[in-house]
Amino acid sequence: MRLLIIGCGSIGTTLAKAVDEMPEIDRIYITDKSKVCAGHLVEKLHKVIYVDNSDESLSRIVGEIDLVVEAASQEAAKHFVPFFLDKGVDLMMMSVGSLADDDFRKRCFDLARSRGCRLLVPSGAVTGTDGLHSASAGAIDEVLLITTKGPKSLRTIPFLKERGIDVDRLEEPTVVFEGSAREAVSIFPRNMNVAATLSLLGVGFEKTRIRIVCDPKGERNTHRIIVRGPFGEMSSTTNNVPFPKNPSTSYLAALSAVAAIRRIIDNVWIGI
Ligand SMILES: NC(=O)c1ccc[n+]([C@@H]2O[C@H](COP(=O)([O-])OP(=O)(O)OC[C@H]3O[C@@H](n4cnc5c(N)ncnc54)[C@H](O)[C@@H]3O)[C@@H](O)[C@H]2O)c1
Repeated sequence: MRLLIIGCGSIGTTLAKAVDEMPEIDRIYITDKSKVCAGHLVEKLHKVIYVDNSDESLSRIVGEIDLVVEAASQEAAKHFVPFFLDKGVDLMMMSVGSLADDDFRKRCFDLARSRGCRLLVPSGAVTGTDGLHSASAGAIDEVLLITTKGPKSLRTIPFLKERGIDVDRLEEPTVVFEGSAREAVSIFPRNMNVAATLSLLGVGFEKTRIRIVCDPKGERNTHRIIVRGPFGEMSSTTNNVPFPKNPSTSYLAALSAVAAIRRIIDNVWIGI
């Protein structure tokens, strides 16, 4: 199997290192708008080939790729997801927050269906998606996500500044946002991939409720999900360790990409 990884940051680097060790993976193309980020992977890993980030260069290798992994940014997803789906290539995306844009999501879903390729979204930084997925085969009354983060990953959010919330001056855990997933993904675009994943699996962006808590002493990104429906009630808490250089991204998100690749490669799927 041959992969293209777009984005060599926290997730892309972890994934490239893991798939480099997998015997089923023959070749790993990587690209990044910053060649410096990609350069160290080319030096360290065995199967990695750097490709220039231009459409022309990427079009040239389309016939040699079985799966593209987008691990870059929402802006990159907006360009590259339809770009590769249109060419009939399977694509796994990490910047799932971009699918909150209804027109973009419809375009991507239509392309995957009409071109006969797969659009895959790993569970990312949250657990309990298996239960939510099962519950969604019936009716769901409520999905609530309570995300707790430290000030580091919230201090640049204009919405909070406009409301006079200085996350560095909070003395105790404080609710800084409560609303729909639709509102949350536009206000906290880098933080809200989890809200998008849950919305897509469950009751949609309008009905999924989001509460964001800033914990001044919080070092971890915690996601608690509560789902209620005729099946009963489910809750799941994920206490995530962030990447040291990138507090917005949890290590589990990168592991979910690695696990998804293992699942794609294997013929036996447990707990789907
Ligand atoms: N699904 C989830 O639960 C989840 C969890 C964490 C992060 N994410 C998302 O995954 C994506 C990657 O996260 P990360 O922490 O690895 O980010 P990162 O900032 O550590 O790395 C992103 C890399 O992508 C590159 N890049 C950005 N735009 C690009 C473009 N247009 N073309 C090529 N390269 C580009 C950057 O130069 C950088 O090296 C982000 O969008 C993030 O929001 C999703």
